[in-house]
Amino acid sequence: MFFLALLSGSLFILPVAVTIGVFLGVERQRIFSGDASTGGGGGGGGIFGLGRPKVTTDTYCQKSYGITPFPGRWGDEQDLGDLCLNITTSTATKSSEVYAAGWSVTWQYPPGSADEPVHAFPNAKLELNDTIPAQLSDIKSLFLDVTWTYGLGNYIHNETNSTNLEAAGVNANVAVDMFFAKDKTNSTSTTDSDYEVMVWLGRWGAAVDPIGLASGIKANHSINGTHFSLYYGDNQNTGQTVFTWVADQNTTSFTGDLTPLVSKLEENAGPDGKSYLGYAAFGSEALYSFENVTFFVPRLEMDVQA
Ligand SMILES: *[C@@H]1O[C@H](CO)[C@@H](O)[C@H](O)[C@H]1NC(C)=O
Ligand SMILES: *[C@@H]1O[C@H](CO)[C@@H](O)[C@H](O)[C@H]1NC(C)=O
Ligand SMILES: *[C@@H]1O[C@H](CO)[C@@H](O)[C@H](O)[C@H]1NC(C)=O
Ligand SMILES: *[C@@H]1O[C@H](CO)[C@@H](O)[C@H](O)[C@H]1NC(C)=O
Ligand SMILES: *[C@@H]1O[C@H](CO)[C@@H](O)[C@H](O)[C@H]1NC(C)=O
Ligand SMILES: *[C@@H]1O[C@H](CO)[C@@H](O)[C@H](O)[C@H]1NC(C)=O
Ligand SMILES: *[C@@H]1O[C@H](CO)[C@@H](O)[C@H](O)[C@H]1NC(C)=O
Ligand SMILES: *[C@@H]1O[C@H](CO)[C@@H](O)[C@H](O)[C@H]1NC(C)=O
Ligand SMILES: *[C@@H]1O[C@H](CO)[C@@H](O)[C@H](O)[C@H]1NC(C)=O
Repeated sequence: MFFLALLSGSLFILPVAVTIGVFLGVERQRIFSGDASTGGGGGGGGIFGLGRPKVTTDTYCQKSYGITPFPGRWGDEQDLGDLCLNITTSTATKSSEVYAAGWSVTWQYPPGSADEPVHAFPNAKLELNDTIPAQLSDIKSLFLDVTWTYGLGNYIHNETNSTNLEAAGVNANVAVDMFFAKDKTNSTSTTDSDYEVMVWLGRWGAAVDPIGLASGIKANHSINGTHFSLYYGDNQNTGQTVFTWVADQNTTSFTGDLTPLVSKLEENAGPDGKSYLGYAAFGSEALYSFENVTFFVPRLEMDVQA
């Protein structure tokens, strides 16, 4: 539903909005190796030692960028919110590695307006230019292997304590976000595509409802032990139809092929076999939290086989 911004180890393509992306796929080695000589600005520090792999954490805080023209964060014109993303890379990472570098996001935003409640979608975007855009009928698998935590404060939590998040009034989700379109080029755009398909693995707060909740569950499907329910409806802001598969419990670890969730949509007026998948990312939609929260993704593999 939201804009994408790109970030790689070698150069910054400045965010068009508030989203911060981490390249996976083709570009992943640059992220993994964390080569300081190509690291650019943005702060961060490294741990150096003779004969040891160099582990580097780079920190990206949107406020530190001189984005011109600065588009403003969604629904936060007064600049009351805050978001920083850390990526920890290691020179010891092999080129055959399929997992993304570990990353975390610390954020805090006040509540937004009802029609634009999401302030940011810090995410890791799959970049597989040889494979996607791909027509749905050609997609053999949409693999996701992820472990994440969410917690209060400016530090990484090893466990997610939903009771604490709920008590603090955190409104956020953890989701895969995909876009489809009949037109190949449009499928790569979060605004020009025809369909948004989300898979929610976690959700906290009363403001975090899937579009179409009121019309009830349209389908159910389980993948590797996680039960998902489908909701859908139109996004009035973009004219897109939004399909949301919501896990019936907060799923902090998931391994499986998401293809069935997408191929079941045609019978619900969703993308058909000819539609292109042009965008796939994993992240967290940040709605609001009065205190800082930290989202941590130590393990993430996404892959599309087509
Ligand atoms: C988190 O909270 C501290 C104050 O405790 C603040 O200085 C910081 O800017 C906040 N935001 C982030 C993204 O860390
Ligand atoms: C992949 O395609 C995008 C969009 O055309 C481009 O910005 C990016 O640089 C490409 N990445 C690679 C690794 O070729
Ligand atoms: C992110 O990196 C900065 C700078 O190294 C550090 O101060 C901060 O604690 C890190 N945040 C998390 C959540 O680890
Ligand atoms: C998470 O686990 C690591 C290693 O087991 C430990 O050093 C760290 O203190 C833990 N962090 C928290 C917030 O409990
Ligand atoms: C979550 O945190 C609360 C308060 O700190 C604690 O009472 C509760 O046991 C925790 N829950 C879990 C599952 O750890
Ligand atoms: C691509 O998206 C634009 C903007 O929504 C739309 O005007 C155009 O008709 C689309 N192209 C095709 C071929 O569907
Ligand atoms: C989905 O599952 C729920 C219970 O888990 C059930 O109440 C509902 O009827 C199912 N809906 C469909 C469309 O299968
Ligand atoms: C996640 O945990 C929170 C707090 O316990 C709860 O309110 C929410 O419904 C859970 N989400 C799901 C999808 O189970
Ligand atoms: C199911 O999940 C487990 C981990 O929970 C993983 O080891 C296994 O490979 C997954 N199975 C499939 C078919 O993805």
